[in-house]
Amino acid sequence: MIGAGAIQFIGGLIIIVAFAQVAVLLYGSWRGAALARVQQGLANELLRQQVGAETLTREVERAKTTATWSGVRKFRIRDKIQEGGDICSFYLVPHDGKALPPFSPGQYLTFNLRLPDRDKPLVRCYSLSDSPFQTDYYRVSIKRVGPPPREPDVPPGLSSNYFHDDLEAGDIVDVKAPSGNFFLDLSKHGPVILIGGGVGLTPMVSMLNAICDSGSKREVWFFYGVRNGDEYVMREHLEALEAEHENVQLRVCYSDPRENEIVGDGFQHAGRVSVDLFKEVLPSNNYEFYMCGPPPMMESLTTDLHEWGVPDEDVYLEAFGPASVKKKAPVEDAEVETATGQVVTFALSNKKMTWDGSQGSILELAEANGVELDFGCRAGSCGTCITAVKTGEVSYVEQPGSLPEEGSCLACISVPKTDLALDA
Ligand SMILES: Cc1cc2nc3c(=O)[nH]c(=O)nc-3n(C[C@H](O)[C@H](O)[C@H](O)COP(=O)(O)OP(=O)(O)OC[C@H]3O[C@@H](n4cnc5c(N)ncnc54)[C@H](O)[C@@H]3O)c2cc1C
Ligand code: FES
Repeated sequence: MIGAGAIQFIGGLIIIVAFAQVAVLLYGSWRGAALARVQQGLANELLRQQVGAETLTREVERAKTTATWSGVRKFRIRDKIQEGGDICSFYLVPHDGKALPPFSPGQYLTFNLRLPDRDKPLVRCYSLSDSPFQTDYYRVSIKRVGPPPREPDVPPGLSSNYFHDDLEAGDIVDVKAPSGNFFLDLSKHGPVILIGGGVGLTPMVSMLNAICDSGSKREVWFFYGVRNGDEYVMREHLEALEAEHENVQLRVCYSDPRENEIVGDGFQHAGRVSVDLFKEVLPSNNYEFYMCGPPPMMESLTTDLHEWGVPDEDVYLEAFGPASVKKKAPVEDAEVETATGQVVTFALSNKKMTWDGSQGSILELAEANGVELDFGCRAGSCGTCITAVKTGEVSYVEQPGSLPEEGSCLACISVPKTDLALDA
C-alpha cells in the first residue's frame, strides 16, 4: 500500500526529473544541461534521504510492533518436520498473527507445557535453530530423550517425548520470549569457530544461518560431532551453505563410524571434535570459539583450548542442562563464597540446615531435605526456580540467563553466601 506521503514524494520526484529533462530540451545549451544536472542531483539526494527515512521508519515500526513480550504467548505449530537422528523440528508462528520480535542467534525459547495428568506446567528450554533473519517463524529442533542407559526402567524424558509423540501441526503451545546470554554478536566481523555436538548443533546452526543470511563474509568454521551418519541431521542444508558461501568451512566428525562409512563420504574426520583436529586444519588459534554439546566434549575442549593459548574470554559455551562445565565467562558475583557453615532456613517448610559446601545448589539442598521447589532447566535459564530471599545473600556459580529481581534468587545455580532465610 502506498501512503499519501509516498505519493507526494513520487509526485515531487517526477516533477523535478521532468523539469530537468524539459530544461535540456528547451535550452539545448550547456546552461540547460548544467541546470538539468543540478535538478537531477536534487532528485537523487531527495530519493536517498527518502529511502533512508523510510528504512528508518520501517525499522522503528518493526521494533514497535515486535517488542518482546512478558509472560507466555501462544504459538501455533505450523509444521513438524522429522530431521532424522531422533530430532524433530517445530516451526512456530504467533497465534495472534502479529509480528515476531527479533532474537540473537544462540538464544532459546522457554516452553510452559500443559501435559495431561499434571497440575503445573512443565517448563523446558529449547534453542532457536534457525536464522533470526527468518521473520516468519521461530524454529526449535528437539531430540527425543530416552531413559538413562543404565536405568532402562525409569520413565523417558517428559517434554521431548511429549513434543515428538503428542504435539502436531495446528497445536498451540505457551512460549516465553527468546532469552539467553549465549549468542553470536552479528556486529563483529572476526573469524569464528562454531562447534556442535549431537543435538547441540541447534544454536550453532542458528549462528551459521545468521552469518550466511546477513551476507557477512566473516570466516566461519562449523565443526559438527556425531557418532555416525544416523545422527547427522540437516546434512543437505549444511552442505549447501558450504557450497554457496566461500567463507564457510564445514567439518563433520564421526566418533564411531559404521563399517560402510568412509572418511570423505559425507564426513571429513573419524574421531571426536578435538583441539588436535583444530591444530591440524586451522591456520592459527586466533578465533572466537562457540560450542554446545555433551558435557564431556565441552569439558575437554575448554581445557585443551586453554592449553593451546586461546584466551578464556574467546570461548563461549552453552549447556543443555545442569551445567557441569564451569563457564569461563565471569559470573555476576565472581567471588563465589567458598566458606561453609552458613545456616539456611526454608521458612515456609519450617526447616533449617547448615551448608557444608557439598550439597550442590540451593535447589539440590532443598531437594535433599524434602523441601519442594519448582524447577525446569536446572541451568539458570528458565526462571522456574526463582525463590524469594527473606534475609541474607547468595552467590551464583553459573552465569544466569537473566538475573531475577532484587530480593530473589535462582535456586538451581546459587549457593549461600551468608546465612539465608528463603521463602520456600
Ligand atoms: C538453554 C537450553 C537450551 C536447550 N536447547 C535444546 C535444543 O535445542 N534441543 C533439545 O533437544 N534440547 C535442548 N535442551 C534440553 C531440553 O531443555 C530438555 O532438558 C530435554 O529435552 C530433556 O527434557 P525432558 O523433559 O524430555 O526430559 P526429563 O523429563 O527432564 O528427563 C531427563 C532424563 O531423566 C530421566 N529420568 C526421569 N525420571 C528419572 C528418575 N526418577 N531417575 C533417574 N532418571 C530419570 C529421563 O529418562 C531422561 O533421561 C536445552 C536446554 C537448555 C537449558
Ligand atoms: S530451574 Fe530453570 S532457572 Fe532454575
